Amino acid sequence: MGVEVAVQGLTKSFGSQRIWQDVSLTLPAGEVSALLGPSGTGKSVFLKSLIGLLRPEQGSIVIDGTDILQCSSKELYEIRKLFGVLFQDGALFGSMNLYDNIAFPLREHTKKSESDIRKIVMEKLDLTGLVGAEDKLPGEISGGMRKRAGLARALVLDPEIILVDEPDSGLDPVRTTYISQTLIDINAQSDATILIVSHNINLARTVPDNIGMLFRRQLVMFGPREVLLTSDEPVVKQFLNGTMIGPIGMSEEKDEAQMAHEQALVDAGHHAGGVEDVEGIVPQMKATPGNPERQAVGRRQERVRQIMHTLPANAQAAIQDSLNEAGVDGQYDPQYADASGYVGEWDGNSQDTQVIPAYEGDPYGNTTHGQG
Ligand SMILES: Nc1ncnc2c1ncn2[C@@H]1O[C@H](COP(=O)(O)OP(=O)(O)OP(=O)(O)O)[C@@H](O)[C@H]1O
Ligand SMILES: [Mg+2]
Repeated sequence: MGVEVAVQGLTKSFGSQRIWQDVSLTLPAGEVSALLGPSGTGKSVFLKSLIGLLRPEQGSIVIDGTDILQCSSKELYEIRKLFGVLFQDGALFGSMNLYDNIAFPLREHTKKSESDIRKIVMEKLDLTGLVGAEDKLPGEISGGMRKRAGLARALVLDPEIILVDEPDSGLDPVRTTYISQTLIDINAQSDATILIVSHNINLARTVPDNIGMLFRRQLVMFGPREVLLTSDEPVVKQFLNGTMIGPIGMSEEKDEAQMAHEQALVDAGHHAGGVEDVEGIVPQMKATPGNPERQAVGRRQERVRQIMHTLPANAQAAIQDSLNEAGVDGQYDPQYADASGYVGEWDGNSQDTQVIPAYEGDPYGNTTHGQG
């Protein structure tokens, strides 16, 4: 099974610029989580912090029992071997063809023979739909293909923790769905802990077990998918529907006057953009038939049973619906189960959400910061 990543009280600044503060969340071992947030909120900075490429000035990141902010560089080197990372820009070597790019970590970190390496590289090329392109240089292929090559390279060492920064950027909607399916299938096959950074709404609605969101230097929330997907937080609703109406503006901060002006335009008939409100929760994607069952599903189901009473009413209803779908008395049936999870506490700041006390027995120190 993948490894749990426990983040507590994390704060990161560049000089006098605070990027985010007091971020606490736990990526449950073997589950798929997503971190959403508008551009520039520090999602990529968070991802780079998790592998020790950037150094937050406060807090802890405990991976496999080691706090990577306190450990030696030798220990950090060992911890990094657990990770496979797809960076936002793909980070391929421009002078190497795709084959050599993808083979690079195997040649660098293992003593495998070239024929073993070939087998692995071709398998990952196949998984990411790149067979036939292995002789091309990164500069000779499309942005979406570079992204997929970066994913292939992230997977060659069979990592226990997979971080992917905007796997969908540069991909058309259909390829985005294929990448989503690939990530779910990888999770089913490997039981790796996966964190996806994205602003793709479809991916967020259909892929992760747990979802968090960064906004204005805070982690707005983090927890089971049902919590964010049924949230009444204005910033969450705006983000999920992609409309101009709400606290997110073109620049980082949107002031009251701007919000009132936009609302007046919409009241007068102007289209606010985005899609219609999607009612309820769309089902989560499942592993392609032929893959093992996702073990995360059963584990998550168990956890959500324990903490159900601590979740907001909307989330509870959504979870109950999927439990009912799962069969008699909510019996766990991996074929249908898509609901479960955890949150540590809910501060009840949303207007329409009931106040939920902190769940004492929760092993995860997750937080929510209401924006409402
Ligand atoms: N190495 C760095 N030095 C100084 N500032 C940085 C550095 N890396 C990122 N930043 C700043 O941190 C902020 C957050 O950047 P980040 O790339 O994490 O945003 P993001 O949420 O990933 O955005 P996007 O969705 O556009 O990728 C930005 O203001 C950026 O300029
Ligand atoms: Mg980014």
